[in-house]
Amino acid sequence: MSTSIPATLIPGDGIGPEIVDATLAALEALKVSFDWDVQQAGLAGIKSAGDPLPSAALDSIRRTHLALKGPLETPSGGGYRSSNVRLREAFKLYANVRPTRTLIPGGRYDNIDLLIFRENLEGLYTGYEHYIPMDGDPEAIAIATGVNTRQGSHRLLEYAFEHAIALGRKKIAVVHKANIMKALTGIFLDEARKLYKSKYAGKIEMQEVIVDACAMKLVLNPWQFDTLVTTNLFGDILSDLAAGLVGGLGMAPGANIGTDAAIFEAVHGSAPDIAGKGIANPVALMLAAAMMLDHVKLHEQATRLRKAIDDTFNVDQVRTGDLGGKADTKAFTAALVARIKNGS
Ligand code: NAI
Repeated sequence: MSTSIPATLIPGDGIGPEIVDATLAALEALKVSFDWDVQQAGLAGIKSAGDPLPSAALDSIRRTHLALKGPLETPSGGGYRSSNVRLREAFKLYANVRPTRTLIPGGRYDNIDLLIFRENLEGLYTGYEHYIPMDGDPEAIAIATGVNTRQGSHRLLEYAFEHAIALGRKKIAVVHKANIMKALTGIFLDEARKLYKSKYAGKIEMQEVIVDACAMKLVLNPWQFDTLVTTNLFGDILSDLAAGLVGGLGMAPGANIGTDAAIFEAVHGSAPDIAGKGIANPVALMLAAAMMLDHVKLHEQATRLRKAIDDTFNVDQVRTGDLGGKADTKAFTAALVARIKNGS
């Protein structure tokens, strides 16, 4: 099958180019042809254009509306703002989607299959913070203002309901703290109730869970949950908690979905300690590429990629060093490509 979908490719920093190469090899084996526009960002962007998010990269995503990106380093000092935050703002990437699935059975928790939708632009992450001086201490009082809007809550909730139903998920937990933060997270819960009643009742079951209880329940019995949807800060914490249930961030993919673009990435960073050694685990970025394939409706290829990863891990027992295996990035990729080509 021949497809040619325009997309931006940002190799990123550290292990970024290594795991991007591995992911491209997997996509090539699947015979998916993206029409890649390769752009630099992060430290590579500073080197090539003096900006961690050069305008050429932004223009490219403006044109393609679709990107696969490696991890970006934001240098501390030098006054640079995080490129990841700038990308979220520039393309109004309001939905952060983080699936968590057991990939290698036999861990502390088995058969985990959770899907978390996190609001990505609002809440306590808007950065409205300041200090008030008192008694000679210039930073005696710290104040942060959270902002959740009805419209912002609505669009994330609608995205979550629509996608959970389309994926055949059975229930969705709305996670909040409306008993204490009555306005800030109450507006999110209120909007969820309204939206559910008017549009989604009967199509999926909706639960309401207070965030602290949710954290405890996820540790005690994660199987009671299916899909979760929540505000920015709670989503950040709970999606890392969920990644911990399946062995950490190493194999966690993430999608940032917006009105103007969709950007897919591994959740981990640029791993400078192992960069250039050829030993990085490329699976998180490969799973992000599988999400990207689903996004462009190439569901069959997405499923084949996930199945090939499962089989490489669990049938061939080929794993990179971070998972206790002996394969380097190239050997793992070769085994995966063989699986794809043999119709895994
Ligand atoms: P990190 O995720 O890069 O590394 C943490 C540990 O996990 C390291 O020991 C690393 O070797 C290991 N690791 C990470 N990914 C791995 C992989 N695919 N295979 C094998 N081992 C892996 O986190 P760290 O060190 O805190 O951050 C490094 C840089 O990455 C920072 O500049 C940070 O700002 C950036 N970063 C970028 C992100 C993004 O672009 N989305 C996300 C997180 C961090």
